[in-house]
Amino acid sequence: MTASGFLFFTFLNSPRADRTFGCQMNINDSQKMAGMLKSMGYEPTSDWQEADVILVNTCSVREKPDQKVLSALGEFKKVKNKNPDAVIGVCGCLAQRAGYEILQKAPFIDMVFGTTNIHHLPKLLEEAQAGNKAVEIIEEIDENETELDKYPTIRDNKYTAYVTIIRGCDKNCTYCIVPITRGKERSRRIGEIIQEVQYLVEDGVKEIHLIGQNVTAYGKDLGDVKFWELLYAVANVEGVERIRFTTGHPRDLTEDIIKAMADIPQVCEALHLPIQAGSDKILEAMDRGYTQKEYLEKIELLKKYMPDIALSTDIIVGFPGETYEDYLETVKVVKEVEYDQIFAFKYSPRPGTPAEKLPMTEDPKTLSKWLNDLINMQKDIAFKKNLAYEGKIVEVLVEEEKDGKLVGRTRTNKLVHFEGEHNLLGEIVNVEITKANRFSLEGKLAQVIA
Ligand code: SAH
Ligand code: SF4
Ligand code: F3S
Repeated sequence: MTASGFLFFTFLNSPRADRTFGCQMNINDSQKMAGMLKSMGYEPTSDWQEADVILVNTCSVREKPDQKVLSALGEFKKVKNKNPDAVIGVCGCLAQRAGYEILQKAPFIDMVFGTTNIHHLPKLLEEAQAGNKAVEIIEEIDENETELDKYPTIRDNKYTAYVTIIRGCDKNCTYCIVPITRGKERSRRIGEIIQEVQYLVEDGVKEIHLIGQNVTAYGKDLGDVKFWELLYAVANVEGVERIRFTTGHPRDLTEDIIKAMADIPQVCEALHLPIQAGSDKILEAMDRGYTQKEYLEKIELLKKYMPDIALSTDIIVGFPGETYEDYLETVKVVKEVEYDQIFAFKYSPRPGTPAEKLPMTEDPKTLSKWLNDLINMQKDIAFKKNLAYEGKIVEVLVEEEKDGKLVGRTRTNKLVHFEGEHNLLGEIVNVEITKANRFSLEGKLAQVIA
């Protein structure tokens, strides 16, 4: 067969709906699958009519992404009719959770596989191309799953790259599907992580973004290594200029980790620390394992060690049992912490989770109002925080050129647009901020750092 093109639909929504991405793990899986397909001779395409392989990488964290995939199946049938030779595959968290249901609803799908056997894609593809249904959804975690890590990633961004350090989650928050779709926590061996980091740096990457559903739990299952030690090991790789990590769980964020963040020059002053809710009653019902006070103590510690740290969080509005007074506790925290960004969504019951059967307390309309009020309040806080950058000189990693301007990010993860030469791509430069917008900053080049 001629290997010409493949196409990806990465569904969407999930925790980062505003950026139309799945979560970091989902994106990284897509990037790895793209690398895998490339090593088999395929090239990416944006035109489904010329695609030999179409992969739908799904998220299932709320009902909306599920519905998006299920309603898109009709579209895929049209694609199949017009391009009958294309192999259409569904993978990711919804495939792991409901792969057989998908096949039942859309029998024309050629390939379905889950989240821990992605490395079997070449074998499954061969099977599908031979005209068979290629289905592999396994309950047990495939012990060779880390074979996926050996493939290069294909990314939009040349200078920053995700590196998976831990898979799965042991936390079992009562609303969350992730432990069901991604299984138990498994940390990657430090040597393998460092090898991948070295490879990426040789490939021109400047910023390493360590990822997992729960990165601060890294090493618990290995026994002999802690997350903060991994931070030092990554920082010691020559050429690593910036380090970020997502997502940390407040419960596992120790003072040792915070100290290492402050001590390691490459670790950026930015942290995503999901609170989910402000009320202790709701936090307990969610089984988050901390109180509002304990969460705020961690924030205080972060600000003590890194006064300029930019903080972001995830919030669920309307968990069963949440009253207006409970919701006001969330509002209070958002006001007090002054996050740079929040990702807030209405609670969505997920199949098989402990909270699934709990009755909703408020009607959807009220919840929409609570959510909108929270988001609007945050918009003002974020703008105020951006305004504080005016007149300051900040370090920016130049990531791309867009509409005749250079675009990059500060260490605090703010998007900056400024004028400059093409050869600054991939460099860290000093930029003086001249104007703050609601979602980005504008500036002018001050001086090249190195
Ligand atoms: N591991 C991360 C979050 C992973 S899921 C953590 O513990 O913080 C990403 C986000 O999706 C969560 O932080 C939560 O805010 C949201 N989410 C998860 N399940 C949800 C549900 N059932 N309804 C609404 N939002 C949910
Ligand atoms: Fe889900 Fe909780 Fe695990 Fe995050 S920590 S992935 S919210 S179970
Ligand atoms: Fe979605 Fe799975 Fe990530 S449910 S949030 S793609 S771990």
